[in-house]
Amino acid sequence: MPNVKFYKNEDLPLELHKVRIVQKLNLVPIERRIEALKEASYNTYGLSTNDVFLDMLTDSGTNAMSDNQLAAMMKADDAYAGSQSFVRMKQAVEDVLGKKYLLPVHQGRAAENVLVRTFAKPGDIIPMNYHFTTFLAHTLEVGANIVEILHDDAFETSSTNPFKGNIDVDKLTKFIEETGVEKIPFIRMEASTNLIGGQPFSIANMMDVRRVADKYGLLVVLDASLLGENAFLVKQREDKWKENSLGDIIKMMTGLADIVYFSARKLSSSRGGGICTNRHELHQKMEVIIPLFEGFLTYGGMSVREIEAIAVGLYETLDETMISQSPSFIKYLVETAESKGIPMVTPPGVLGAHINAAKFCDHLKMSEYPAAALGAAVYLAGGIRGMERGMMSSVRDENGVEVPSDVELLRLAVPRRVFTLSQMNYIVDRLEWLYDNRRLIGGLKWVYEPRVLRFFLGKMEPTTDWPHRLMEKFRKDFGDSL
Ligand code: F0G
Repeated sequence: MPNVKFYKNEDLPLELHKVRIVQKLNLVPIERRIEALKEASYNTYGLSTNDVFLDMLTDSGTNAMSDNQLAAMMKADDAYAGSQSFVRMKQAVEDVLGKKYLLPVHQGRAAENVLVRTFAKPGDIIPMNYHFTTFLAHTLEVGANIVEILHDDAFETSSTNPFKGNIDVDKLTKFIEETGVEKIPFIRMEASTNLIGGQPFSIANMMDVRRVADKYGLLVVLDASLLGENAFLVKQREDKWKENSLGDIIKMMTGLADIVYFSARKLSSSRGGGICTNRHELHQKMEVIIPLFEGFLTYGGMSVREIEAIAVGLYETLDETMISQSPSFIKYLVETAESKGIPMVTPPGVLGAHINAAKFCDHLKMSEYPAAALGAAVYLAGGIRGMERGMMSSVRDENGVEVPSDVELLRLAVPRRVFTLSQMNYIVDRLEWLYDNRRLIGGLKWVYEPRVLRFFLGKMEPTTDWPHRLMEKFRKDFGDSL
């Protein structure tokens, strides 16, 4: 973050942008919120934005777009094949990510589908720092599996480890030796490991992973969806890189990977995705799948307007003023909440502030889905919509038995340049109230559990009438406040 010191007050994450288009928000009374929660089957995905005050479900497709992105959308070149919009995106990918071959896809998980279908076969195992839900689902669908190779302290929610997303290279080497390279299609590294609290990896670690990959002749695939923010934290936390530009750091990281893929919904504050590489043979291997699932090679399921926005958005990820905004707000939110005793994931990561739901709701059993229950309670308390990242987002084992999640988190996403600092303070206020009343939060149970990615469409219900008790306490403490 460009350094702006305050004369008398504590330093605050100062907004270095102005708001030019606004959207009115609804903060509906808690009596409506409890109804809405029921209609949503206690799954925050089921809520309608009419009933949501602060939508912190995700940063995916919800980052604020810049004036230049919106302007670029106007010059989009509508063509099924050979669109100039795609030429501009391709150039931006080459300039920013350093890869000359690009396959367009409609969003990040579509890239995962292409990668897994191209390189993985039944029985394969893909090693990685940590899985993302959709990557795991695609891998399981083709009969392969994944293994997570992090350092032992990666799941310590309260930590000072600046790079909890690092792969443990000794364990990686051991895994490769024991499994055999023929069963390993590639090594996957996810920038800012989403599911363990948006925790980055270091460049030193990625260099080590590259060395191991070279030793065994394996490909390295980088999920770059949250690469900009990972690069920002490298600049902040990895001494060797503190004088480098974000552009240098990003290129260094992508240069260590054979294939880079991304959700443009995150990386470039737009909607779409891509897979890029400098290796023609890899590009050609994947390219045949694009017309089958995505569309022609010059749009891949995206609108040409969004393609223009991606091109501009990619260049904007090089702007530290823009990239630092979300992590700086997250840091503020985490540190302010922590100072009130609320158990947060530390160090603060990217994408959102993560509440340690296992600790917040330590009176609940894992089988009562503490993070999902906390998600429902946070919505009730403040009209704030978060996303469960724990048991509910996990999968059962081969025998259908629930496996306790590695971490049990409620994520409050902080999309780029969307919220204000007073809204952050409102969130902390409602969290503090909820923390003081946490024993009123009860569990949830499944009513409908889909086979794949159950957290999206699943339906739940409370195990007791705890939501009403929480509402009554809210009314008692807040009077007629919204
Ligand atoms: N990889 C990472 C690291 C992601 O965070 C996501 C999406 C994807 C891949 C899939 O991309 O949504 O464009 O298909 N994360 C969103 C989230 C959904 O809310 O964390 P997608």
